[in-house]
Amino acid sequence: MSIRTSMHGQWSSRLIFILAATGSSVGLGNIWKFPYMAGQNGGGAFVLVYLICIFMIGAPLLMAETLIGRRGRQSPINSLETLAWDEGRSRSWRMVGVIGILASWLIISFYSVVAGWTLAYSVRMGTGALDGVTAAGATSIFNELIADPERLLAWHTIFMVLTVAVVSRGVRSGLEQAVRVLMPLLFMLLLFLVGYSALKGDFTQTVDFLFTVDINAITPATVLMALGHAFFTLSLGMGAIMIYGSYLPADASIPRVTIQVMLMDTLVALLAGLAIFPIVFTNDLPLTKEVGLVFQTLPVAFGQMPGGMFFGMLFFILLVFAALTSAISLLEPIVAWLVESLSLKRVHAAIMAGFSSWVLGIVMLLSFNHWAFEFDFLGQTRANGLFDMFDLVTTTFLLPVGGFATAVFVGWILSKLVVIDELGGHGVFFRVWYFLIRYAAPLAVALIFLNAIEVV
Ligand code: PHE
Repeated sequence: MSIRTSMHGQWSSRLIFILAATGSSVGLGNIWKFPYMAGQNGGGAFVLVYLICIFMIGAPLLMAETLIGRRGRQSPINSLETLAWDEGRSRSWRMVGVIGILASWLIISFYSVVAGWTLAYSVRMGTGALDGVTAAGATSIFNELIADPERLLAWHTIFMVLTVAVVSRGVRSGLEQAVRVLMPLLFMLLLFLVGYSALKGDFTQTVDFLFTVDINAITPATVLMALGHAFFTLSLGMGAIMIYGSYLPADASIPRVTIQVMLMDTLVALLAGLAIFPIVFTNDLPLTKEVGLVFQTLPVAFGQMPGGMFFGMLFFILLVFAALTSAISLLEPIVAWLVESLSLKRVHAAIMAGFSSWVLGIVMLLSFNHWAFEFDFLGQTRANGLFDMFDLVTTTFLLPVGGFATAVFVGWILSKLVVIDELGGHGVFFRVWYFLIRYAAPLAVALIFLNAIEVV
């Protein structure tokens, strides 16, 4: 086992790592992004490719990133550099961590804006403003929100301050408790929503839409979107899982903990789809609702059920927490790196990182109103200017590049002995995993990418 320890501390147990990593992976990606991406990219075809990517590429990479973190015990940039150096390889491997930091900075800026919407909706539910709302009403209420930069700025600012506050205190205090109670609660509420939607909405059509695969709908673009989303939803390719792995106790089994995280994340995404689409179908909403989908559907369901405003408020508050536990993991690699490299105090590093993301977030929120413009991406029209561009650049480019490099690093740069030492075994499971990391994952990512940009 590695003899290093992290200067930032360690999780108090294996379970806390599972909770924190689940907190990181389960977030807006599952409940906000997955349903609208499935809607936009042909339903079942997208879901199938997404699931394959999760199991064949995402899960092995989740293990690989945790392994690098635990072995290096530093921020992603410094862990990669140290481990490469240990193996007598180039220190430039740190660049993978640098790309990761760029990706997390871009992601958190738009993530915080969307998380702001969930804050706004918690309040709206709480005040009863959405009681009895119709599908058309919910759509216009959402459109009003995103057309108003001042309101967006206020919510974005509140969310960023919350994130910085938690990260300043260190990921362990506060976060551990929050995740332990709130994640299971969100999960239960989601189950309840699925039940409600199944009773009231068109559940058969939903199941059909999400799980019937039309092979012709699988285009190179769909595959790239599904791959990118697999990275996004598991928090892969930018160092979040690496940094959390660096706080993992030495005796925890990496395969066991990462598989639990992956299963939980996938389940939440599928449940979100099952809760949302029945409302889409019974209300004849278009499938191409994009970024507003969750906000235009769930309020309709809450608006009709008895006690709906209370449940709705609870749901959106829990969603705020799910977003917060993800945002924390987006900021943490940057903060840990600033602390290590510039010897900054954690609070100062958190404020610096948070402030710069907040500024970038302003550009994101203006993309819905003053700075909105349309553009085409792989045959699809995008309406939200720079917001969509940042999302697409990170999801379909930076995260896959980071994932590809991580797989190559663990498969080809780290010696097999180190890898076996961290994973604690070399049975059949290990061999399958090692094959996926060395060959299948990098090859698949490269092919999917080149195929989508029509090189192969
Ligand atoms: N996985 C988070 C979600 O699905 C988003 C995220 C991406 C968090 C990358 C950390 C790193 O909401």
